[in-house]
Amino acid sequence: MAAHEAPETEDFSQPILEGGAASDYERYLNTDGLLALQKTADEWVHRDELLFQVTHQASELWLKLSSSDAAEAVRLIEEGDLSGAHRLLRRSALCIRFVIAQLEMLEHMSPWEYQEIRKVLGHGSGFDSPGWNGLRHAFPRLGQAFHAARRAAGLSLAELYVQGREHEHLYQLAEALIELDEQAQHWRLRHYQVVARVIGDKVVGTQGTPVELLGRLVAKTSFPELWEVRNELTALSKESS
Ligand code: HEM
Repeated sequence: MAAHEAPETEDFSQPILEGGAASDYERYLNTDGLLALQKTADEWVHRDELLFQVTHQASELWLKLSSSDAAEAVRLIEEGDLSGAHRLLRRSALCIRFVIAQLEMLEHMSPWEYQEIRKVLGHGSGFDSPGWNGLRHAFPRLGQAFHAARRAAGLSLAELYVQGREHEHLYQLAEALIELDEQAQHWRLRHYQVVARVIGDKVVGTQGTPVELLGRLVAKTSFPELWEVRNELTALSKESS
């Protein structure tokens, strides 16, 4: 029977999904499992461990969605569904925006008190972030799929931009990729600022990486050719004027 045909006698307050939790909300979202993923108060060395764990765990979830959408976009580009890929890449970039925004929460910790938390992180390091590594894995595959589609259309990158209106889907895809790159770069910058503000810019991380290196990584791009083509377009425009 469809939901809208439910008899008036149906008790909507009772759960109908599988599971032991009291409500379907808790069963579907597995809130018992989710909320057990943080240390309990008696395990904290400092109460801001909750802030620290929630910020990182929430970031991992958004990055999971971001890299899942980016990976699916690769498949869609390979199938020739460029607008479907574009739709997913916009979501993927929005996830990174959320992760950037959440970094601000860490600036609400006292840098001195954070030193207590740091002692219980072992050799834990963001270099082992499954979410960020998922994105780092997806980016080159996205670039390959996009350039294969562009070549199949017989266009150089500069031609794609000059004739952007005639190749709307490919043009939108190129812009979605540079948007992703810009957001990833923005995350690196914001993360570097937060790290410098919390532990300093002349120290080494829990996995031995100098914070200065994080500062240098800010300049890294995943689709350098998309940035480079802007120089080409400026030169082309000068030549033709
Ligand atoms: C107080 C907060 C934070 C501090 C002090 C911090 C510190 C650091 C340091 C020092 C590194 C270099 C590697 C090492 O540990 O030796 C690093 C890398 C990294 N961190 Fe953080 N981090 C913080 C918050 C976060 C958050 C919330 C995320 C979210 C996922 C994150 C993700 C990463 C990633 C992905 C890298 C690798 C960087 C790259 O590949 O460009 N970090 N972090």
